[in-house]
Amino acid sequence: MERTFLMIKPDAVQRNLIGEIVGRFERKGFKLVGAKLMIISKNLAEKHYSEHEGKPFYNQLVRFITSGPVFAMVWEGEQVITAARKMMGKTNPLEAETGTIRGDFGVVTHRNIIHGSDSEESAKREIDLFFQENELHIYKKDV
Ligand code: CMP
Repeated sequence: MERTFLMIKPDAVQRNLIGEIVGRFERKGFKLVGAKLMIISKNLAEKHYSEHEGKPFYNQLVRFITSGPVFAMVWEGEQVITAARKMMGKTNPLEAETGTIRGDFGVVTHRNIIHGSDSEESAKREIDLFFQENELHIYKKDV
């Protein structure tokens, strides 16, 4: 079963959108297997966004993601990586379709509500960065 790392960013946490966003993934049928409200250290932010180091928006990105609590999550399900990215919408919320999370709740690229892994490789890397194995849960089949 595929897993992905999703993170509700400080703008959306501050706007009380955690329930709305978590509800969309629950209603879609995915399983939340790990979650925590946390402040990201500068060091963790730099590791998480290392592929963007040197880009013009990098410093702002690190400043923003460490500016307040984020809600870090691991979700599980069939093709959850691709499905979650569809549900999130394009990086620039003004280009994201209405009905997607960014399209419905965001306006600017650097405060774009949610992050989601873009491949199996980055999902594994990001899950390992944010979660210990014992923080991820397995659902019993016949509860
Ligand atoms: P995210 O999915 O978290 O991955 C990298 C983030 O960098 C992205 O969402 C945006 O928030 C941010 N980002 C990407 N491109 C730009 C840009 N051109 N200007 C500002 N921020 C950007």
